[in-house]
Amino acid sequence: MRKIYVFDTTLRDGEQSPGVNLNTREKLEIAYQLEKLGIDRMEAGFPAASPGDLAAVNAVAKAVKNVTVIGLSRSREHDIDAVREALIGAQDPCIHIFLATSPIHRKHKLRMEKHQVLETAQSALRYAKKYFSKIEFSLEDAGRTELDFMVEMVSMAVNEGVKVVNIPDTVGYLNPSEYGAIFKHLKENVPDIEKVQLSAHCHNDLGMATANTLAAIQNGADQIEGTINGIGERAGNTAIEEIAMALETRQEFFGAKTSLNLSEISRTSRLVSKLTGMVVPGNKAIVGANAFAHESGIHQDGMLKEKTTYEIMTPETIGLKESKLVLGKHSGRHAFREKLQDMGYELDEQQLNQAFSRFKELADKKKEVSDDDIMALVEEKLIDTPEVYKLETIYVTYGNRSVPTAKVRIIKDQEQELEEEAEGNGSVDAIYNAVDKATGEEVTLSDYSIKSVSRGKDAQGEVHVVLTQNDVSAQGRGLSTDILEASARAYVDALNQLIEKRKTFSRRERASL
Ligand code: KIV
Ligand code: ZN
Repeated sequence: MRKIYVFDTTLRDGEQSPGVNLNTREKLEIAYQLEKLGIDRMEAGFPAASPGDLAAVNAVAKAVKNVTVIGLSRSREHDIDAVREALIGAQDPCIHIFLATSPIHRKHKLRMEKHQVLETAQSALRYAKKYFSKIEFSLEDAGRTELDFMVEMVSMAVNEGVKVVNIPDTVGYLNPSEYGAIFKHLKENVPDIEKVQLSAHCHNDLGMATANTLAAIQNGADQIEGTINGIGERAGNTAIEEIAMALETRQEFFGAKTSLNLSEISRTSRLVSKLTGMVVPGNKAIVGANAFAHESGIHQDGMLKEKTTYEIMTPETIGLKESKLVLGKHSGRHAFREKLQDMGYELDEQQLNQAFSRFKELADKKKEVSDDDIMALVEEKLIDTPEVYKLETIYVTYGNRSVPTAKVRIIKDQEQELEEEAEGNGSVDAIYNAVDKATGEEVTLSDYSIKSVSRGKDAQGEVHVVLTQNDVSAQGRGLSTDILEASARAYVDALNQLIEKRKTFSRRERASL
């Protein structure tokens, strides 16, 4: 079996998804989980983009141990220096330098002739070589680049000693036979091509990212780039879980395999969805809620007779376990601990205590606490944000012929009581107006989404909001069996995140004076 290296860019290309805004703690949480998943390489961000990005990449670089940590850089010395700074402390640092090569980008974006593109990339690689022993070079928009110019650019990169050459289909334009043919052509026409690994990086604009990436593997790609749940710019990137499971399920056909711990796929997918606020559609391949559900009578009958009639892979492979232990109001600490172990959670004593008291609160409201509920309540508090504001109580009055009003009580800095009442054009709007009045914060609600954590009328609702204040955005989450309470919690959580971000910015501004 040929090993296919997995380059995860959830924290960089994935974070470029509209509305996604991960803070350093969230990036770290995802990075630890990606490490457990067993990815080989992790692109942690674009350090030159902002001081926040640089700091987050640095935090990830110092935290993860068994993964190559990568920082993205344009072909400019300033960006390369930012990656140098960001990767201080990384065990295995790598810089990822890119430059666009297609005629459209050369003419309209770069305003460069071919030879200038080549020289710019070459001098960036020469500069980077002084500081990095591992370099990946990407030909941005390679998918729409002339083959002969691609050969020229890749040959230059090989001569400069890069380790990986990436051939992105930046705009998701190609189909599998075209994309595969590029890899074949490069393999056949670039001298010394065996000195580098070729990498596939696809976008999903025409829904072909997975198919294109698999075509690249069939034509010699050594590395695939993608994100968890396929998040990313526009229609997203290749979904890593789809590639891993395609290779696993059709081993004989592809003759290639990743070294991912497949049983961590489901957990990673859930975490990324939760922290980015990007809901995974039910019918999403591999990780959608319905990916292993059999609804029709004929299918159910087949499944009961022999699972392989309708199941080409098992839910257990990606870490979905059917747990026999059902928890409820009368379940004790011991059963709860067992259940968490069974579900693969390793919590320290304090986390366990907190999770258990939240479980007890929930069990008072719900007859049966499902695995999904437990996952949601455990994962809810894995990341502790310093709480300037804490929601104490909310009261809402609503009637379809009256103006909704909300009254909130919030504790500031653990001592100051803030209480306010406000109206709104709906219950959630009234709550948010009351919170604004109480806290005095002026924010814009840039995004709001809600999903049900489990099934049934008593299911918990999970709300995700994004708030913006003076060009700074922060997201927040709230979980409750009541969607108004979940909405209020999410809003207050986002306010706390905003305050945290504000502090970081002002510290940096002071430092740069
Ligand atoms: O899609 C793309 O071309 C990229 C590059 C920066 C590699 O993400
Ligand atoms: Zn990309």
